[in-house]
Amino acid sequence: MKSSPWWKEATIYQIYPRSFFDSNGDGEGDLQGVTSKLEYVKLLGVDAIWLSPFYTSPNKDGGYDVADPRDVDPRFGNLADAKKMIDVAHSLDLRVLVDVVPNHFSDQHVWFQDALKAGRGSAERSRFHFYDANPDGTLPNNWISLFGGSSWTQVEDGQFYLHLFDSSQPDLNWESPEVAADFETTLRFWLDLGVDGFRIDVAHGLVKEDVLKDHPDPQGLSDALRLDMPMDPEKRYGLLPTVPFFDRQGVHEIYRKWRTLFDSYGDRDVMAVAEAWVHPPVNATRYVRPDELHQVFNFDLLDAPFISSHLYDVMSRSIELMKSVNTLPTWALSNHDSPRVASRVGEQQSRALALFVFGLPGSTYIYAGQELGLLDGVIPDESRQDPIYLRTQGLQKGRDGARVPLPWNGDRAPFGFTSGTPWLPMQDGWKELTVEKQLAEPKSSLNLYRNALSLRAEHLVNIGDIEWIESPLHGSKNPSLLAYRRGNVSVYMNLGESSDEVEITGKVLIVSAGTPDGRDGKITIPAISTLWVQH
Ligand code: GLC
Ligand code: CA
Repeated sequence: MKSSPWWKEATIYQIYPRSFFDSNGDGEGDLQGVTSKLEYVKLLGVDAIWLSPFYTSPNKDGGYDVADPRDVDPRFGNLADAKKMIDVAHSLDLRVLVDVVPNHFSDQHVWFQDALKAGRGSAERSRFHFYDANPDGTLPNNWISLFGGSSWTQVEDGQFYLHLFDSSQPDLNWESPEVAADFETTLRFWLDLGVDGFRIDVAHGLVKEDVLKDHPDPQGLSDALRLDMPMDPEKRYGLLPTVPFFDRQGVHEIYRKWRTLFDSYGDRDVMAVAEAWVHPPVNATRYVRPDELHQVFNFDLLDAPFISSHLYDVMSRSIELMKSVNTLPTWALSNHDSPRVASRVGEQQSRALALFVFGLPGSTYIYAGQELGLLDGVIPDESRQDPIYLRTQGLQKGRDGARVPLPWNGDRAPFGFTSGTPWLPMQDGWKELTVEKQLAEPKSSLNLYRNALSLRAEHLVNIGDIEWIESPLHGSKNPSLLAYRRGNVSVYMNLGESSDEVEITGKVLIVSAGTPDGRDGKITIPAISTLWVQH
């Protein structure tokens, strides 16, 4: 049974187009490549795809530096290819979400080029954040770019422009009515081409407050914003609400207008999901108020350790928070910005976690390659492309490891991804992980995902609330166990290194590892595995 609207409990497959499938041998994935693999996506059993940007871009930040948001970059194809991809997806009953990047443009966008020419005080510059240095020669403020280094870059006539990310990504000034109007044009452009919705990049960043005010602890702030930067949690959670450029009230005005636009498409059932890293967590609920967006990403699992009490805390909190605004949470174990889950928590652990998450209420995002159990690629420094690596002078390795192309078939890299040389080096050791091999192996990660998604659709969608069973906080005897029940299915995860016996009767629907053993009203849950039982 499907819930209504379609996105409430959807499974959405994130495609990083450059790494998915290369149709023309230039070593980079493209839209025709995506189209040719949609049958595979369908086979996986997801409801929708979300594509990271494929718009015209100098590609300094994997296409999140957009030079023309209403055209396709030649490396990915052209608009006709985009239309074809959307149409083929629809013919397979897959919805299509695309990225929209409203916080910044590329410095190659015609607006920025015009701003450079037009000079200080011009209308062209007012679309961005251009300022002079302070009278004492210091920068307009002390903010640090999220990619490292200053967030200000100087242009020829001496003015500086703000960029929260790479210097090639000038931030847009959302107080300019032209900026707002241009994005509405972009949203309509893609909706008119047929897409079903959007993933909104840096959705919490559009409005900046007090641009000319220094932050008291810019380095602390910058570290606090980086998930991979170890920091005392108290310090981190103290700093996060002080970010002057994220999660300001003004962003909600923007999304209210966008919602009106989305709703004007009526029964198309358009949906938008916000990438909004906010703190405290309750702030996320504001993005999904009835007159704003439909979903907000929940990033809690991207860095959660494989510890039952921690997982219980973040999962139950998301469910409760979203319930308070009458909606359901979203879940993501991996994306193009974070280490792959199998690398982070371990291969068997990542399967258990995925199977556990697939039963939870809400919508699940799966990052292409996650279903194969891919690990982060090993990348020699000279092949790295992420601006984070370049801007931190190699101090931070960046995100390329999670962006290595997918292995499709054969015994040697590049495993059918391309007939040329892949844009990032692929791992020879991945020969057991190809789609071809895994389709043929009943116990593969891919087949676990396929079976799980099909059982999810059958038993765990649109069946209402969750009831935690003996969670650590409910006084479980065994902290290595985490469990819940929805409808007539119970989901048990054994996080421990040894198998565990629970007193339940029912039919085992699926298990993520090992072989469960059931007798006398007891079922043995193999070590490091998740098991679904139907009562
Ligand atoms: C988002 C994207 C990330 C990009 C950044 C700047 O966080 O997911 O890949 O680098 O925005 O656009
Ligand atoms: Ca290509």
